[in-house]
Amino acid sequence: MKIEQFEMERMQSTWENVVEMDLSESGVRPVTLRELAEMGLDIEGILNTPLGYSQSNGTIPLREALAEQYPGATPDHIEVTNGTSEANYLLALALVRAGDEVAFEVPNYMQYWGLPRSLGAKMNCFHLRLDADWEPDWEEFERGVTERTRLVYVSNPNNPSGSVLSERAMQRIVERVEKTGSYLVADEVYLGAEIQGERTSSFWGMGERVIVTSGLSKAYGIPGVRIGWIVGPREVVAECWAQHDYVTIAPNRISDAIARVAVRADNREKLYARTRGILQGNLPRVREWVESFEGFLSFREPRAGALCLIRYHAATPSVELCERIRVNQSVLIVPGKQLGVEAFLRIWIGGKPEFLKEGLRRIGVELRQEVRSQESEVRMAPRDSDF
Ligand SMILES: Cc1ncc(COP(=O)(O)O)c(C=O)c1O
Repeated sequence: MKIEQFEMERMQSTWENVVEMDLSESGVRPVTLRELAEMGLDIEGILNTPLGYSQSNGTIPLREALAEQYPGATPDHIEVTNGTSEANYLLALALVRAGDEVAFEVPNYMQYWGLPRSLGAKMNCFHLRLDADWEPDWEEFERGVTERTRLVYVSNPNNPSGSVLSERAMQRIVERVEKTGSYLVADEVYLGAEIQGERTSSFWGMGERVIVTSGLSKAYGIPGVRIGWIVGPREVVAECWAQHDYVTIAPNRISDAIARVAVRADNREKLYARTRGILQGNLPRVREWVESFEGFLSFREPRAGALCLIRYHAATPSVELCERIRVNQSVLIVPGKQLGVEAFLRIWIGGKPEFLKEGLRRIGVELRQEVRSQESEVRMAPRDSDF
């Protein structure tokens, strides 16, 4: 398979370790091993662990612990993977064939844009509508999800908007995939990272054709151990395991041990609370900053996740604007274009408050320049009386 470039990931991996300030991130400031030791991780046990292969689909204790989170699931409904991205990848390899149609929610994390396309699928996008509180455009959805659709991909909570689908919307999506015989892949890696409001409901259990992917990277704050998982119908999970044998064989053994501690119900709640605390502390700073632009910037506050998707009111393409911010201010942020929407910037809010403050100040320098050049363009524009 010739794979097309994943623009955002490549942009990040090129620059994130070169710039002074990386605000293109998408999780919260990561948890340390010490913090996990305080939650019961046996560091001595880790030191004595022979660095052998681990159970390739995840150890039974880890899959049992995960199954408890998903009512009705057993360890056979779960495949443990190297990150949520591998979970998504294995599903595409297992389910998508050339000529299939795949429906894709936009804006989004673009893995399910490039990957199925590279496998030869035809993509049908349906947009979350900013003017409808980020509800899907139902006309596009119905048009895009038909008997020819192999799978529908959503991220809920959504990266990058931070929006959460209503129960009614979730129901409508599941009813449609049941009717068309498609699979729903719901990427729930941000579930548990709610900033305000209730815990997001999982799609799991809403229908026979629902598959959930998730992992430790976002709501748990543990991206570096690279643990993700798939929860789905047994036959789909078995297909993914077969793919896994060819791709990476197994997750890392130490990571599996760390995950067993992190996903324990009491620890999970502690980690979610830590995430919420970080995000609740940072969001007001972004709110004030956006307001200081007096209309040039606007945003709908995220309900969940470590991201703010901010609209700017200028014609400059987002890639060009972000490039200017990187070159002049050494700050990396994500252009909307790389998330499927133009005239937006994605800014990370999962770091330390001082870091965010300085990052916003620097981004602001370039945006104010943009405002000034807009004003001078208006002044320079010829008036009727000039003719
Ligand atoms: C929606 C979504 N899914 C998957 C991933 C990849 O997650 P992981 O680090 O667990 O592979 C990301 C990363 O930003 C994401 O935003």
